[in-house]
Amino acid sequence: MSLPFVKIAGTGSYLPQRVVSNDDLALGLDTSDEWIYSHTGIRERRIAADNESPLDMAFAASRLALQQAGMEPEELGMIMLSTCTGDYNYLPSSACLLQHRLQAKNAAAFDLLAACSGFVYALDLAGAWILAHQKPVLVVASEMLSRITDWQSRETCILFGDGAAAALLLPSAEEGLVYSCLGADGEKGHLLALGGGCKEPASREPRSPSYVEMQGRALFSVAVRAIEQTIVKILQENQLSLEQIDHIIPHQANLRILEAVAKRLQIPTARLLSNIDKTANTSSASIPILLDELNRTGKLKKNDLLLSVAFGGGLTYGGNLIRWLKD
Ligand SMILES: CC(C)(COP(=O)(O)OP(=O)(O)OC[C@H]1O[C@@H](n2cnc3c(N)ncnc32)[C@H](O)[C@@H]1OP(=O)(O)O)[C@@H](O)C(=O)NCCC(=O)NCCS
Repeated sequence: MSLPFVKIAGTGSYLPQRVVSNDDLALGLDTSDEWIYSHTGIRERRIAADNESPLDMAFAASRLALQQAGMEPEELGMIMLSTCTGDYNYLPSSACLLQHRLQAKNAAAFDLLAACSGFVYALDLAGAWILAHQKPVLVVASEMLSRITDWQSRETCILFGDGAAAALLLPSAEEGLVYSCLGADGEKGHLLALGGGCKEPASREPRSPSYVEMQGRALFSVAVRAIEQTIVKILQENQLSLEQIDHIIPHQANLRILEAVAKRLQIPTARLLSNIDKTANTSSASIPILLDELNRTGKLKKNDLLLSVAFGGGLTYGGNLIRWLKD
């Protein structure tokens, strides 16, 4: 019998052990804990060990999500993996590497690139795929921004951290994934970019390293607008008020972005949940890491209404409305 809805049945996350504080960064950079904290809300971030890869992080988070849902990897019909930092450049995809590592032999697998909005994009796609195929989907976000960060650039390196998280989605008799809205604005793609692609032919000459390049100030105001408008759209389309949302889970890019959004929406900043002080910006992993933290610390009650909202490179933006159906 085919089930009419989709729900989240398990979550998992993984953060590398190494903690790098603002004071640690200030040892080799012209910056300070005071500047970083007051401009971003970040105190520390996790940075992967040299022998850890994005796949290792994805695997650890996936195992936990599967375990929590009580599922075996062979039961998966699909793995969708969001990352800007694959183990390889394009091929093989990280999702295929993960499919092999998990021994998820019945799963199709592909990577999805929507930068920091990758998880909210993937949830929407997973929902549609599950309704069509009635099989479980593992959505994973694994990001090792430390590998594409210029550690001499104080404008960017202070912002990012490494981490991964996963969510296991199933066909359901009750409506868990209620609504998603996604958008893009390619005209502003240059605000956050990573070179080293295929627009130029390959060469035997060594290329200069490709680091993520960012126009921080311009991104800031775009982010505030995108997050505010996405929240308002989700509420309007579902005839809800902010008071009816139990947990708002935004992408963790900068606490000041969340403060500005809260001001526009006339709500306390604390309504926009944040763990950025400890994780920094883990790109598309930031929402599912926070979701898993809330889940595992017992903050989510059955039937709670969750709203996720993200923006990121591309530019991309979007959000999901989720009814929490786990006991
Ligand atoms: C990057 C960001 C934190 C910079 O904060 P800001 O308040 O806009 O700071 P500015 O870039 O205007 O720089 C202000 C001053 O601080 C300096 N500065 C920048 N980084 C610094 C650092 N880490 N430590 C100390 N000083 C720093 C600048 O050089 C500048 O100095 P000047 O006034 O002498 O020229 C902020 O713009 C931001 O978070 N943008 C959004 C980025 C983002 O979300 N990216 C990911 C998208 S998913």
